[in-house]
Parts: sequence; C-alpha cells; structure tokens
Amino acid sequence: MCGIVTAIATNNVVPVLLEGLRKLEYRGYDSAGLAVLSGELTRLRSAGRVAELAVLADQAGLSANIGIAHTRWATHGVPSERNAHPHISAGLAVVHNGIIENFESIKLSLQARGYVFESETDTEAIAHLIHSKLATTPDLFDAVRLATNELMGAYAIGVLSEADPFRAIVARRGSPLLLGIGEDGMYAASDTAALLQVTRKVVYLEDGDLAELRRDSYRVMLPDGSPVEREVHISSLSADAVELGQYRHYMQKEIFEQPQALGNTLEMIAGGGSISPLHFGARAPEVFDGVRRVLVLACGTSYHAGLVARYWLESVAGIPCTVEIASEYRYRKSVPEADTLVVVISQSGETADTLAALKHASALGMTRTLAVCNVPESAIVREAALRFITRAGPEIGVASTKAFTTQLAALALLTLSLAKINGRLSETDEADYLSALRHLPVAIQKVLELEPQIEAWAQRFASKEHALFLGRGRHWPIAMEGALKLKEISYIHAEAYAAGELKHGPLALVDKDMPVIAVAPADELLEKLKSNLQEVRARGGELYVFADAGSEIPESEGVHILHMPEHYGMLSPVLHVIALQLLSYHAALVKGTDVDKPRNLAKSVTVE
Ligand code: AGP
Repeated sequence: MCGIVTAIATNNVVPVLLEGLRKLEYRGYDSAGLAVLSGELTRLRSAGRVAELAVLADQAGLSANIGIAHTRWATHGVPSERNAHPHISAGLAVVHNGIIENFESIKLSLQARGYVFESETDTEAIAHLIHSKLATTPDLFDAVRLATNELMGAYAIGVLSEADPFRAIVARRGSPLLLGIGEDGMYAASDTAALLQVTRKVVYLEDGDLAELRRDSYRVMLPDGSPVEREVHISSLSADAVELGQYRHYMQKEIFEQPQALGNTLEMIAGGGSISPLHFGARAPEVFDGVRRVLVLACGTSYHAGLVARYWLESVAGIPCTVEIASEYRYRKSVPEADTLVVVISQSGETADTLAALKHASALGMTRTLAVCNVPESAIVREAALRFITRAGPEIGVASTKAFTTQLAALALLTLSLAKINGRLSETDEADYLSALRHLPVAIQKVLELEPQIEAWAQRFASKEHALFLGRGRHWPIAMEGALKLKEISYIHAEAYAAGELKHGPLALVDKDMPVIAVAPADELLEKLKSNLQEVRARGGELYVFADAGSEIPESEGVHILHMPEHYGMLSPVLHVIALQLLSYHAALVKGTDVDKPRNLAKSVTVE
C-alpha cells in the first residue's frame, strides 16, 4: 500500500527520498511523487514507477534539504499523475497513507469556503483542511494537529510548507509511520527498510502521535498538544536482508530462504529445548490458564495458516477452534466467550482488518490475545497481550511464502504448548514432535530440490485459464493457499475445494481444460481422496498430484504424480505448501507477470 518518506537534513535529501521510495516499492503502488522546498515548493509526480520519478528529478536537477515523497496505491480516484501525491494547497504539500472516511463532508465544507479541488483523492482534502487551519493558528504544527483531530479513518501523513521551510510535520493514526534519527538529519517513513540507508535509530509513533522534524531535533506530541516521549530503538534489520542478491525475484529468494527462516523461528527448541508456554512470553502461562477455546482472526494467507492450526488444535490439543476472516468478524454480531484465546496472525502486523478485529475482540472482553507476527514493532504486536515473533526476515514479494510457513511453525508450537498444559502431550509424543520440528529445515531443503519437476509441470498448465485445487483435512487449507498463490501471481483463475465437496457442484467444471491439482499425502484421508481423484479422471480432468513417500498412487495417462521425499505427519502442510509455492512461481514466470508486484495488490494492506 502507499509508502511515505520524509527527510530534513544538512545534505541534499532527494537521493534519500528516492532510495526510500525504492525500498517501499514492495508494498505495492501505481504512481509516485515527491515535493521539496528549496526557496520554493517543487513537486514532481509520475503515474508510473519510482524509476520514472527519479528520471524526472534528475532532469529537473532537483536538490533540497527538506522533502516528502510517496508511492500511491489508488483508493479514491484512478491511478494517474493528477491523483498522485503530494497534494498541494497554496504552498503546503501533503503525502498520505490510509483512507479518510469523512473526506466528502470535509471537502464540501472546504469547497463552500472557496477551496478548489484538482484531484479525486481524499488526501487533497487534508491539504486544504490544514491550510484552512492556518487562518486561525499561524503555527504549522498546530494547524496539522487541529486538522488531524477532525479526520475520521486511517492516516499517516507528511506535511511541508513553503512558509515554514525549516521543519516537516508528520502524524499517524491507524497507518504505520516511524521516525529515523540520523547523524545529519531527521527522517520518517512507512517502514524501517526505507531508512536503513541513513540510520538504524528509529522511533515508532503511536496512534494519534504527531511529530515535528528539524535538521537536528524532533519532538512528538499527543493530539491534545502535550509532549510525549517515545522510546528510541536500534533496528536489527540488515540492509542485505532486503537485497535481491543472486535471485531473480524476491518471491524466489523467499521460497528458498525457508529452511533458514524455519530454523530461526524454531531456535528455542533447537538442541535440548522443550515445549513450553514461555515461547509465547513471560505472561503466557497466566494467559493460557483456563483457556477453553481458540478464535483465530486473520486475512488471506495468514487466514489459511489459521485454518491449518484449527486441525492441529482440535486433534492434538483437544481445544475447540474457530477461524474467521478478520474483515467479517469485525462487523459481525458475535457471542464473546471470556475463556477464549484470540490469536491474530499477520505477516506485516499492519493489516487494517486484522488490527480492527483484534481491537473488536478485546472490546468484547476477550483480552487473552496472542499475535503471531513477523514484524516486532507492528501495530498488531503492540496491541496484543502476548506475541510470537516469527523470524522469517523481511518478506518483500507480495505473495507470502516464508511468512506463511513460519506462521505454521509458530502455530504448531502453540498447539503443542496448549496440549501440554491440557495434559494431552505424553513425553514420548513431545519428543517425537520436537524431533519432527527440528527436522523441518532439512525436510524443506529436500522439497526445494524438486524444483525442476515442478517447473516442468508449470510449463504444462501455464496456458490454462482455470485450475482446481483439492485437499482434505489439514491439507484443504493448503489447497486454498495453493489456489491463492496461483491466482495472485499468475492471474490464472484458481479455486480450492475440500475434495469431498467436488461432487456437490464443482465437478461440473471438470473437463480436459481444467487441470486439477491434488495435495495427497499418505495420511488417514488418502483413500477417500483417491476416490475423489477417480471422479475427476472419469470426467477427463488432468490430475497433478502432490503425493508423498507413502502415498501409493500410480502414474497413468492424465495422472501426473510428484512424490515428496518423506511423509511428514502432522507437519505435512508445511512441506506441501512449498511445492505449491514453486508451482505458482514457475507458472507466473512462464506467463511473464510481475511476480513480486502483482497487479492491483499491495504487500501491506493498511486500509480496509
Ligand atoms: C498473501 O500472499 C497475500 N498477499 C495476502 O493474502 C496476505 O496474506 C494478507 O493480505 C494478510 O496480510 P498479513 O499477513 O500481513 O496480515
């Protein structure tokens, strides 16, 4: 989603702004722009990539000590130069991430006062609103504060004014924004990756915070104008972690990083470590005590991780579990139960719907909350009572891969911890599960070695327009994840079904042009699944079966079998999904899509 960079420094900040935008490209965007003050306000915008904006800046010979920059992911108004940020109101420029829900009423009242709007965006209303406040308060900081107090919805903003050239103002509510404390200046950005070029010292702004940035100082204020101290953190994010290195795409890099990502995430059980609620924080024994059910809230791929966890939690820990799409849960009249552990799962930790669902559950009195997240200082992590930080490392590709498998590792640990608390984990079982978890990095490596065969499959069906994914039990969510990956990056229409549902409708779609991908490990449901596959074959459907060491399914005409090297028991979903990730990646390569930045999608979905 939109990305913001703000800089004020002793040196020319234009290269910093542009490099910051490049680092935010992965969030997804359709246009880019910047504004700098160098005597007068100069704005450049491009309805394309950051590289095009950089050419414009070069041609203009742009140089300045203060500026704001933005990548826009269209919400209000089509992607175009006219709608690209910054938006200007008489020498005052604003960049914005988020959605202002009451912008229409603000716009009407500003129009009545003579303000003329040039774009279709909600952001322009912010620019004019701040400008209108300057009529009653000459202080830019106060004008921004008064204006933001009137905004409903989510925002992170950066503001510059020609009349006040020695400071930039930023503010946030609902959308992420952090400050960077540099040696030669002050910075702000939507995420740390944009600022590693200048500093590792960062300050995470809280909801409602406003900050004034000067070359050598900053101050943070609350919405009522009172000052507040926010802790300075030293980011441990390495600049290399966000570089592509030897890989062609971030998605490819991230798929191949999974052995390491899983090893890091499960470090606490390496060697002699055992299953313990303390993996979820010092307060976990107290929070888990008396938990009778689990409610998982998440979106997209993270929701699929929750669906896998439901099978684990109910079968291994004996705890009833419900999994809900966060955007549905937050608006549904539900019946809260105090002995529920609410688990929110999010790679980014900034997903607006998941954050709102978490707040909603807490407001309903369900305060035993756990965030499974890959970003330690994210809004979701800060909101939850307990946190488990997956150690996937930064995930840049829009299609989530290593974040998903590390979420599954975290949820496996949660399952085993709750099973242990409930007296359902014998010492022998614990030892077996621990050894299976420790074996995961090696097992994943072996799956990655299947890439040539999976690539050959991708070549065969990349020309198809539709695909059906089938799975049963804990592999049904893996089929769902496989279908999501395929449509997300290759634009092939894909649907997933619990294989037993096939004959209740989707079988009507099956013919020779509908490839059917089946997740078929040698588990207790394999024989049932085989019958479902016969139903497909009998209708001329071509089968691509991801079997494993123990699944005896003969290869025949129209039935292609790939044997995963081992049978992985409870953890089988972690391994099978990696094969499906490779399949989607290679199908997208054949189709020539923009793998890391698929059309219309954003990495960090900070609007609802
Ligand atoms: C995954 O490939 C998707 N890009 C998307 O479904 C994602 O998982 C979803 O938007 C949730 O994001 P989160 O994990 O950051 O909350």
